Amino acid sequence: MEAAGARNRDARGRAEKSPPESRKVYMDYNATTPLEPEVIEAMTEAMREAWGNPSSSYPAGRKAKEIINKARENLAKMIGGQPQDVIFTSGGTESNNLVIQSMVKHFHKVHAANGDTGRHPSPVDGALPHIITCTVEHDSIRLPLEHLGEEHKAEVTFVPVSKVNGQVEAEDILAAVRPATCLVTIMLANNETGVVMPVPEISRRVRALNQQRAAGGLPEVLVHTDAAQALGKQRVDVRDLGVDFLTIVGHKFYGPRIGALYVRGLGEHTPLYPMLFGGGQERNFRPGTENTPMIAGLGKAAELVAENCEAYEAHMRGVRDYLEERLAAEFGERIHLNSQFPGAKRLPNTCNFSIQGPQLQGRALLAQCRTLLASVGAACHSELGDRPSPVLLSCGVPVDVARNAIRLSVGRSSTRAEVDLVVQDLKQAVARLEGQA
Ligand SMILES: Cc1ncc(COP(=O)(O)O)c(C=O)c1O
Repeated sequence: MEAAGARNRDARGRAEKSPPESRKVYMDYNATTPLEPEVIEAMTEAMREAWGNPSSSYPAGRKAKEIINKARENLAKMIGGQPQDVIFTSGGTESNNLVIQSMVKHFHKVHAANGDTGRHPSPVDGALPHIITCTVEHDSIRLPLEHLGEEHKAEVTFVPVSKVNGQVEAEDILAAVRPATCLVTIMLANNETGVVMPVPEISRRVRALNQQRAAGGLPEVLVHTDAAQALGKQRVDVRDLGVDFLTIVGHKFYGPRIGALYVRGLGEHTPLYPMLFGGGQERNFRPGTENTPMIAGLGKAAELVAENCEAYEAHMRGVRDYLEERLAAEFGERIHLNSQFPGAKRLPNTCNFSIQGPQLQGRALLAQCRTLLASVGAACHSELGDRPSPVLLSCGVPVDVARNAIRLSVGRSSTRAEVDLVVQDLKQAVARLEGQA
């Protein structure tokens, strides 16, 4: 009785009703998450009570300002940073673009071709800024960098990830550094495989390198991490990570669809150049009247993560490990776990797998599922059709295996009972595709 009860409990121990056969099971929490009830409450209250313009000095405005300040504190607490180092943005895409555009502007300003910046000339004056990233980044990093390269505004190195462990190696990042390198941007955890990148080691080594570079008059290399997938799934602390910039995305941790950017020593140690110009909000770094209800929701979502992250992590890991056990038990040798790399740390909630067989392409299999709601990879890659995920191929997953890949990502309310339903659903879908049902 004990065990059966525990099977249906969520990350906060709330009991679930036994799922009816017809119910759908959502296992796509890396794509997006629902709002926590407390988040909806905070947003609703802000809409009702704090509708004033946060820049106004009368009570409705002051109330909105207080909510925004509290949210900023909660975000800072979640990542171990200072509130004044957090600015609100529309989401991960904006935060990532802002870091990249800002570093390019900064480089062009400081290392202008004509050297008229009123300082000693540097060995890279007139050069293009150089940015280092890796081959499995989200499109909101990859595409702005490709555009900058095409427009001859920056040079970019895409460092391949290891085909053994799916991680980018700090050694390879360091080897890619050039005199004009100004930014290294590496995601904290990959959205398709869940592999956690060695960001603390990269930051440590870049910092050591910066000391030598300073002596030679070379620009400091700053480090950015896109923490969209890691937040709410494992502890994230900017002090341990040693990064200068960190991207925060609300809808991946049960918050609303806005985001934030952490900038270490914003405007003092670390420069930030706005992409937008307007009313002076967010100290001019991101002007525009603040979206108080969304910010209130983001703050509440961050507060929940700060308070419960270990419990969320343990719950998701338990359900995901059970899922992998059940898949192995049901499909035996035919299962290929695409996200289990030797020696690599991975997120507690992500299971990327393929069931081998000529008819079992990921999309075809998902289309046959009657219960499971999931995806074959990043939601923003849905235009790829049946082509295998470039991320999996970069990680060394063979083409015929990658073609059959499905990404399951569990959440705070996922249960073992749901896993049983999903595995049963997959079994029936396989049988239908192979003409046995
Ligand atoms: C790793 C990563 N970075 C950035 C983003 C983009 O966030 P948004 O869609 O909120 O702009 C996502 C969302 O899928 C993501 O997974």
